[in-house]
Amino acid sequence: MYILAIESSCDDTSAAVLKDGILLSNVTASQSVHEEYGGVVPELASRAHQQNIVPVVDAAIKRAGITKEELNAVAFTRGPGLMGSLLVGVSFAKGFARSLGIPMIDVNHLQGHVLAHFIRESEDDHDQPTFPYLCLLVSGGNSQIVKVNSYKDMEILGQTIDDAAGEAIDKCSKVMGLGYPGGPIIDKLARQGNPEAFEFSKPDIAGYDYSFSGLKTSFLYHLRDWLKEDPDFIEHHKEDLAASLEKTIVDILMKKLRKAVKDTGINQVAVAGGVSANNGLRNAFRDHAKRYHWKIFIPKFSYTTDNAAMIGITGYFKYLDKDFASIDLPAYARVEKLKN
Ligand code: KG4
Repeated sequence: MYILAIESSCDDTSAAVLKDGILLSNVTASQSVHEEYGGVVPELASRAHQQNIVPVVDAAIKRAGITKEELNAVAFTRGPGLMGSLLVGVSFAKGFARSLGIPMIDVNHLQGHVLAHFIRESEDDHDQPTFPYLCLLVSGGNSQIVKVNSYKDMEILGQTIDDAAGEAIDKCSKVMGLGYPGGPIIDKLARQGNPEAFEFSKPDIAGYDYSFSGLKTSFLYHLRDWLKEDPDFIEHHKEDLAASLEKTIVDILMKKLRKAVKDTGINQVAVAGGVSANNGLRNAFRDHAKRYHWKIFIPKFSYTTDNAAMIGITGYFKYLDKDFASIDLPAYARVEKLKN
């Protein structure tokens, strides 16, 4: 049984093909057009998706070694995301499925990130969590602790009340005059810096919720003061600034996660989303695994940022339940729950 999956929620156009839940191909076209603006420009993202979608889908089907007539279903990201971007993938999926006379499966993007741990590249790939597990979902738009009870039953224990972790990293990086997206740049610089060099404010929020806007302001104000004394402060200290910023964010994320593990008694802990590519966060997970005997699940780099493979595996589980979408299903930009 072959599924074609399509992801176009933000600035990556991605297509994947799975055979009986095993990934055969995963092709992604990223959009460099946003770099000079220091953030994703929705209008430009939609236009780039329009250009990329046909070649990307074509490449995914060819790399899988099949023809489009062999497909049994088309899975697609329905939301949340940028409406103009989503519409490209959703409309393409509808037209493609209709022309082939096969069912469509709508997928919640966040659910896709959480289920990325079930992507299997071969029959022998069995390193997956069992239910229930906790997942720290950290991306440019979200920071959540999710209790995953089953493929379709997910509970958000806590989430950010303002900025997401990735958003905070990107904004601080922008303030430092580094490129976009800031995450990978901060990650690289942080590897050469001292994480104890500077101290930034940490939020004091009840429960499992996060907040990153105070940290962003604290970073900005500190930097402004230091720049008054030394106009080249950033150039002289960029590695230490990156390492200290990264450490503060990782500490904030891990503190709430430790609390969730302690309170729920669930010690299978996964991380997902774009920020899970961060080496400081990945090392903190490994350290917690040793120190607190957590069984951890860290995705391959290619499945951290937006990709169609995660949409494909989520679509596969929905296919097994015969949970198909109707042709009049609209895309959605925002969603409160981890459900469709
Ligand atoms: O999941 P994602 O691709 O898109 C959504 O937000 O849905 O996540 C993108 C975010 C950006 O904020 C980016 O800066 C961050 O993930 N990111 C990283 C790293 N790679 C990507 N943050 C820290 N370290 C990284 N290596």
